[in-house]
Amino acid sequence: MDNWRVYPFTLSIVLMFLFPVIHGWGFDGHYTVCRIAQARLSGAAADAVEKLLSVTSEKELGNLCIWADRVKFRYHWSSALHYIDTPDSLCTYQYDRDCKDENNTRGRCVAGAIRNYTTQLLTYNSDSPNQSQYNLTEALLFLAHFMGDIHQVWDDNIIETSEKRFYDSNLEELIEAIQQNITAEWADRVKGWETCGLNETACPDIYASEGIKAACAWAYRGVSEGSVLEDDYFLSRLPVVKMRLAQGGVRLAATLNRIFG
Ligand SMILES: *[C@@H]1O[C@H](CO)[C@@H](O)[C@H](O)[C@H]1NC(C)=O
Ligand SMILES: *[C@@H]1O[C@H](CO)[C@@H](O)[C@H](O)[C@H]1NC(C)=O
Ligand SMILES: *[C@@H]1O[C@H](CO)[C@@H](O)[C@H](O)[C@H]1NC(C)=O
Ligand SMILES: *[C@@H]1O[C@H](CO)[C@@H](O)[C@H](O)[C@H]1NC(C)=O
Ligand SMILES: *[C@@H]1O[C@H](CO)[C@@H](O)[C@H](O)[C@H]1NC(C)=O
Ligand SMILES: *[C@@H]1O[C@H](CO)[C@@H](O)[C@H](O)[C@H]1NC(C)=O
Repeated sequence: MDNWRVYPFTLSIVLMFLFPVIHGWGFDGHYTVCRIAQARLSGAAADAVEKLLSVTSEKELGNLCIWADRVKFRYHWSSALHYIDTPDSLCTYQYDRDCKDENNTRGRCVAGAIRNYTTQLLTYNSDSPNQSQYNLTEALLFLAHFMGDIHQVWDDNIIETSEKRFYDSNLEELIEAIQQNITAEWADRVKGWETCGLNETACPDIYASEGIKAACAWAYRGVSEGSVLEDDYFLSRLPVVKMRLAQGGVRLAATLNRIFG
């Protein structure tokens, strides 16, 4: 059975995008974003990432891309940084209106967190990588994860179903297919995905606006609570999921390349 069930929980918060569901993009979604990004880093950025990862036992950013989900309980303050609540029924996002936590503290949402960790990473100095006032290893892991979260429009069901059906349950094959599309079918859009406003290092508000539009146009359309979604839902949404994963990876790399020069 390949039917795909929407959790009633997800639907009870219809039009709340980047929903803080337990699954989120899951390991596979975040891994994919980081793998796509790591392959696109400039020499300086690759070097910085390698140095920052050296305090962990991992060389692959991909394997640590889920780290921010795992520390949610230890770093309780970080759980509000994984999503944005936009008002029900409005398919728009505005930083001033929407980027706050449940206590209305401004900037405490995934877009604010991307700015925060970008600013911290800008204090990185390749001559003395351990000399920042911040833990830049954690800043990197948060940034890499949140760049995935802000591109999320569904939980990980569609990714896992497509792996099983089209890629022999092999995540590497799915990643390769997305990478091929980045260099072929989407090649002329990639420059646009990478670009931020003049002098901007990170531009999460653009990604958040796209996310809420995609959620309204695709994720919730034609879906009623508790319904079992059929093949045509899965098949029509899959290309959107792949493109969001591609954009997340391309933009994470572009942001790290701007940060580390
Ligand atoms: C909101 O404030 C309450 C009471 O001070 C606190 O327990 C809670 O953790 C805060 N929530 C966030 C997301 O910071
Ligand atoms: C910014 O980063 C610091 C250090 O990790 C954290 O304490 C703070 O809550 C973060 N704020 C936002 C909005 O991301
Ligand atoms: C930074 O700290 C790590 C772990 O403590 C250490 O292995 C590395 O040599 C240090 N790098 C520099 C340049 O001091
Ligand atoms: C920075 O964070 C990483 C990951 O949590 C940790 O392994 C490392 O010990 C921290 N470094 C410092 C200097 O606290
Ligand atoms: C961009 O940076 C340059 C040099 O720092 C400055 O002269 C210019 O005014 C900035 N432009 C904007 C739109 O902030
Ligand atoms: C991506 O590439 C595959 C072939 O690998 C192709 O079938 C597909 O239509 C492309 N586009 C999208 C949006 O997935």
